Amino acid sequence: MASDKDLYGALLLLQVKLDTLDERRLGLATGLAGLAASGLSRAAKYAELLRSYSELQASREVLARSQKLRALGEMAAGVSHDLKNILNPLSLNLQFLRRLVPRDQKQAHESIDDMLSVLERGVQTIERLRTFSRLEPSGNVKVVDLSSLAHEAMEIVRPRTRMNSRIAFRLHEDLLVSVRAKVDPAEAVAAFVNLLVNAIDALEHGGNVRLATGVDDQTAWVRVSDDGPGMSKEIEARVFEPFFTTKGEQGTGLGLAMVYGFVQHHGGTILLETAPGKGATFTLRLPRA
Ligand SMILES: Nc1ncnc2c1ncn2[C@@H]1O[C@H](COP(=O)(O)OP(=O)(O)OP(=O)(O)O)[C@@H](O)[C@H]1O
Ligand SMILES: [Mg+2]
Repeated sequence: MASDKDLYGALLLLQVKLDTLDERRLGLATGLAGLAASGLSRAAKYAELLRSYSELQASREVLARSQKLRALGEMAAGVSHDLKNILNPLSLNLQFLRRLVPRDQKQAHESIDDMLSVLERGVQTIERLRTFSRLEPSGNVKVVDLSSLAHEAMEIVRPRTRMNSRIAFRLHEDLLVSVRAKVDPAEAVAAFVNLLVNAIDALEHGGNVRLATGVDDQTAWVRVSDDGPGMSKEIEARVFEPFFTTKGEQGTGLGLAMVYGFVQHHGGTILLETAPGKGATFTLRLPRA
């Protein structure tokens, strides 16, 4: 028997002949046991070292990602503030102009309306960017039931699944009664809608979207998962960056940046679990009220 701190090993010797185990053999056996123990202990230490190294690596990646997102947030705050100051007066001036143009000038009215709707889209984009870059929650934070808000979000996205009747979507709700958290309800619904829309977008050939809520000791959680194509490591690492999209013209890449911002300034966390071919699961945790 040999030991090395908390690692114990026993060496069992089977003797074929019944002659006595002499000094020399016993010494050899003890030496062998010692060698085996130190070999095993080294292997265990090596495994432990590998484990701590990969944990360290993972937390370094998380830190680097959050620093990058913070830097992007600061930049986004500056840009959206300035853009808003440009777009708002532009919009007001266009509305003023429209009032001045006589009603029979149809073409002029049409082009003013086009410009106004482009501006409107721009202002919406800036609003989403601002949600990401804001460091604190908006003024409208109150105790709400996350399950009701999650259900509300599901009802908002439901019509999207009916747009193409050839694709079969199944939407599941597994909502705990009364999941209370202190959040801005409008921001929360917008965040859940973003996650649900992404899940539906990912399911190009149909599939399941699951929306669940629950509570742990300290946190209230909301989970959106789909059994779509999932993401590669490269995409997974960038999804929360503002303007990162794989949808080309169809996406602004601000949906998840906004969700990230929402969670950050309510003191929560967001976890993404995904792998290629394995779907995606987003879990938001918020402090319980
Ligand atoms: N459930 C999902 N399954 C697979 N990929 C996803 C999923 N959710 C997000 N992604 C990936 O993350 C990218 C970023 O998502 P995000 O919501 O920020 O922007 P978007 O959906 O592309 O555009 P927007 O939301 O502004 O319309 C997506 O383009 C997509 O590649
Ligand atoms: Mg999106």
